[in-house]
Amino acid sequence: MQKTQQQILRHHGGDGEHARKMISQTYAERHNEAFWQFWAQQIEPVMKAGDGLMDLGAGTGLFVQALAQRYPDSTIVGIEAAPYMLDALVDLPDNAEVLADDLNEPTELVEAESIAAIMCNMLVHELIQPVLMFQAAYRWLKPGGRLCVIDLVRQPLQNYLTHKYPNAELTNANLSREKLEDAFEHFLEHNRYHAEDIIYMLQTCGFKIVEQTELKNGRMVRLVVEKPA
Ligand SMILES: C[S@@+](CC[C@H](N)C(=O)[O-])C[C@H]1O[C@@H](n2cnc3c(N)ncnc32)[C@H](O)[C@@H]1O
Repeated sequence: MQKTQQQILRHHGGDGEHARKMISQTYAERHNEAFWQFWAQQIEPVMKAGDGLMDLGAGTGLFVQALAQRYPDSTIVGIEAAPYMLDALVDLPDNAEVLADDLNEPTELVEAESIAAIMCNMLVHELIQPVLMFQAAYRWLKPGGRLCVIDLVRQPLQNYLTHKYPNAELTNANLSREKLEDAFEHFLEHNRYHAEDIIYMLQTCGFKIVEQTELKNGRMVRLVVEKPA
């Protein structure tokens, strides 16, 4: 766990507070009306009253809190490893909790086949490998249960830099060595997988693909997969 916590902090640029602020600030836009419409169409149909739900890489628990308020009869479990997220959890209702665990090699925190739906939002690119987590998700899901993966995917360098620095040219004097090195390091971390790579891993773990949607002009993908009934 300690090694993973160091690796996450490195990925977060050595500034956990900043990472926490960024995910909190972008939470509402990422979970807007369109998101909840998607949720109602692709996830709610596989949920029955009282079914368990999970959020992997839960940050400060904002999504766990939202699910707990929406589904008061369900138990919601979030999993998170970074101490600066776990120490700043939002208030959670009685039917929700966020547990500390390393999703590079998850422990059996919930019973097999007890969960109707699992969310994995912006987590996969932060793991050293996601295979053991996908296998755990498969075990935890009920037959017919669904996993949603939303994440950054590979894009050409030009798209990445243009998005990161909309008003700057690559050779612009405003881009210092520090900024360039930061951009190129993050380019590697944020460009780990093509959508096809994530699909390949999920299918290898036994999942059936239900939906694949390109988001943010191809910088991100949203996948819904199902454990066959
Ligand atoms: C980009 S944040 C997204 C948070 C939240 N899912 C959201 O969409 O707002 C990724 C989260 O995954 C957590 N994380 C990264 N690696 C992890 C691991 N090995 N085990 C558990 N959590 C991890 C990070 O600490 C961070 O809180």
